[in-house]
Amino acid sequence: MQRTIFTGFYPNTCARDVRAAFGFLFLPWRWGKLRKGHSIGRAEKALATYQSQSRAWTYDSGRTALYYALKALGVGPGDHVLVQAYTCAVVVFAITQLEATPIFIDILDDFTMDPTDAQRKITSKTKVLIMQHTFGAPANIESLMIVAQQHALRTIEDCAHSLGAMYNGNRTGTYADIGMFSFGSDKVISCSRGGALTTDDETIAASLDNLQVDLPVPPLRTVIRHLLTIILFWIAKPLYHLRIGHVILYIAKRLHITSRIMTDREKRGQGSAVYPRRLANALAHILCQQLAQVDTLNEHRKTIANQYSRLLMPNKRFQTPLAAHESSIHLRYPVLCEDPDRVHRHAKSRGILLGDWYSCVVAPCDIAADATYYVEGSCPRAEALALHSLNLPTHRRITMREVSRVGDMLSSL
Ligand SMILES: Cc1ncc(COP(=O)(O)O)c(C=O)c1O
Repeated sequence: MQRTIFTGFYPNTCARDVRAAFGFLFLPWRWGKLRKGHSIGRAEKALATYQSQSRAWTYDSGRTALYYALKALGVGPGDHVLVQAYTCAVVVFAITQLEATPIFIDILDDFTMDPTDAQRKITSKTKVLIMQHTFGAPANIESLMIVAQQHALRTIEDCAHSLGAMYNGNRTGTYADIGMFSFGSDKVISCSRGGALTTDDETIAASLDNLQVDLPVPPLRTVIRHLLTIILFWIAKPLYHLRIGHVILYIAKRLHITSRIMTDREKRGQGSAVYPRRLANALAHILCQQLAQVDTLNEHRKTIANQYSRLLMPNKRFQTPLAAHESSIHLRYPVLCEDPDRVHRHAKSRGILLGDWYSCVVAPCDIAADATYYVEGSCPRAEALALHSLNLPTHRRITMREVSRVGDMLSSL
């Protein structure tokens, strides 16, 4: 029986991260450093240096980072924020938490914001434009920045998928007023849950410094849960194909030992009891370890993506919109097909768990409809792409043999 191939499920974790998590949990002299410590400053300095920006701030998640980016840019009740359709609901919730209104912009065939549709939907209430570099492929930053400048909008780059991606010789995240990052479990690098902002603008920096003053550190139980989740996924995944791993993760979930990407309260659009918070020191320590590997992980992703392109190009039943995208870091390899549900089922029967970013315009699909503010039909291309999307894994555990397994599975459909 072959091992399960995962797309998500903490794919970036390495033995060093698991050792660090064990250390923080089981060595009593490290307990004092679980929530506060010098790793937070170290992670912020390392990220600012990597991004060639003057400052960086860390948070408990990308959604908290985005909330503070919007706050620092003065977004408040009644303001409009341009955000692309084909995104994660927590992006939208960062806007609605400030009582601002998300204005959904349709996307291009590369899953990023269409500058023409953005131009069309700007009104006197529009304050901020968020550009998302979906799957690690840089958006059309040049055109979007022109649109923003013409209407004096402030800008944020959502680099949750694109840490390390280059655009015209500079990293994504360095063009807008603020760069925003996520270090959640399935992102470019991860520390279970985390996020960050970077900027070169002194006024924004002063504002973010002020906002940081009252931001509490996460409760101890949240930090412990994140560290346990790293360990449990590490133990369970190699046993998944034997059902044991499945059972371990199921029990851990039922007992609320493992952390969830989105809570039921969040899915109803009612915010979260745990956020917003700072990044915990123990997670910042793991983030520092991961940051040192980002370029290696991205090189691997590109190699794997090229191989998928070679395998899938002759197969007329699948479209590969980012196959020729040279600047993408290919966090995941998106594929369009007629019936993604059928492919997911077929893949699962062969021990392959494919990704579903994004099978809804505002994902995941079980979000309360009125919580997203999305108006059906307002972004037709995003709706069409969401209907046909699935994604293949490119992370560090994927070998050329596993690419062949995925390729064989797809051609046997
Ligand atoms: C495009 C995008 N931006 C932001 C976020 C928020 O990141 P986090 O899960 O760290 O809050 C996500 C989450 O999946 C995302 O997909």
